[in-house]
Amino acid sequence: MEKTDAAIIKLENVTKSFGEGEKKIVVLDDFNAEMERGKITCIIGGSGSGKSTVLRHLIGAYQPDSGKIWIDGENIVGMNVKEMNAVRKKFGILFQTGALFNSMTVEENVALPLKEHTKVPIETIRIMVAIKLEMVGLRGSGHLKPAQLSGGMLKRIALARAIALDPKIVFYDEPSAGLDPISIGVIDKLMKDLSSKMGITSVVVTHELPSALRIADKIIMLFKGKIIFSGTPEEIKTSDDERVRQFVNGLPDGPIPFSKTQKDYGEELKEMSYY
Ligand SMILES: Nc1ncnc2c1ncn2[C@@H]1O[C@H](COP(=O)(O)OP(=O)(O)OP(=O)(O)O)[C@@H](O)[C@H]1O
Ligand SMILES: [Mg+2]
Repeated sequence: MEKTDAAIIKLENVTKSFGEGEKKIVVLDDFNAEMERGKITCIIGGSGSGKSTVLRHLIGAYQPDSGKIWIDGENIVGMNVKEMNAVRKKFGILFQTGALFNSMTVEENVALPLKEHTKVPIETIRIMVAIKLEMVGLRGSGHLKPAQLSGGMLKRIALARAIALDPKIVFYDEPSAGLDPISIGVIDKLMKDLSSKMGITSVVVTHELPSALRIADKIIMLFKGKIIFSGTPEEIKTSDDERVRQFVNGLPDGPIPFSKTQKDYGEELKEMSYY
């Protein structure tokens, strides 16, 4: 098996397109990026710039057309299910929706990965779950059902589940989506603590620039499947790239289009059955 000792996560010349012929779109175009061990890397960029696509490649949900994807020393491109499952144990994922099971209690939700992937006895699992709930500030809520919790609490429970197996890496897909500023602050602090106290490597896809500025060791900004900025929060604030400045200043007009029109709008309306 191919090995590398460089950054814990590395995308090398990754190209990915969707569709065929005229409809073909190249989403990642000879894409290269590195994420450092124990650090927080935030991926930002306009809608449709390819952020989620990068994340989906990292978790093995998408295969690239070409290129290599290194996770902790292994190239995951072309791995079979068994090999990929072994790599998956190294990372936790916080999905945008939280993806908790409504029929289960909080404790059962957080215990799920431990029951599925380990042979740890149930009494020990209960202790491990309590530790994870304590880490996200929600010990004592194990008996509740997801419907009884607020959006911010659900995210924290989902985070407790994502770290249940003590992963080296946690991938976050829009962790702040739909949360109020205080809950965003709580999640930011948790992500920061997991990185600084536990040494967890974090990759965070986010729309929230203030959040990225607060927590990131490195920010990567995507534009049309390429990296147009890679650097620290301080550096992005002073970037003189027009596209970066538009994003940082939240301006609707600029090189980054407000909407992505793929064909003539009139034509599109005509194709709709109700028109
Ligand atoms: N499975 C797929 N099939 C076809 N096209 C796809 C697929 N996944 C992504 N795309 C396309 O790739 C492009 C990038 O999508 P992606 O979801 O990565 O964007 P994003 O940066 O996460 O945007 P947003 O901020 O809106 O979530 C879009 O044009 C999208 O339509
Ligand atoms: Mg996305």
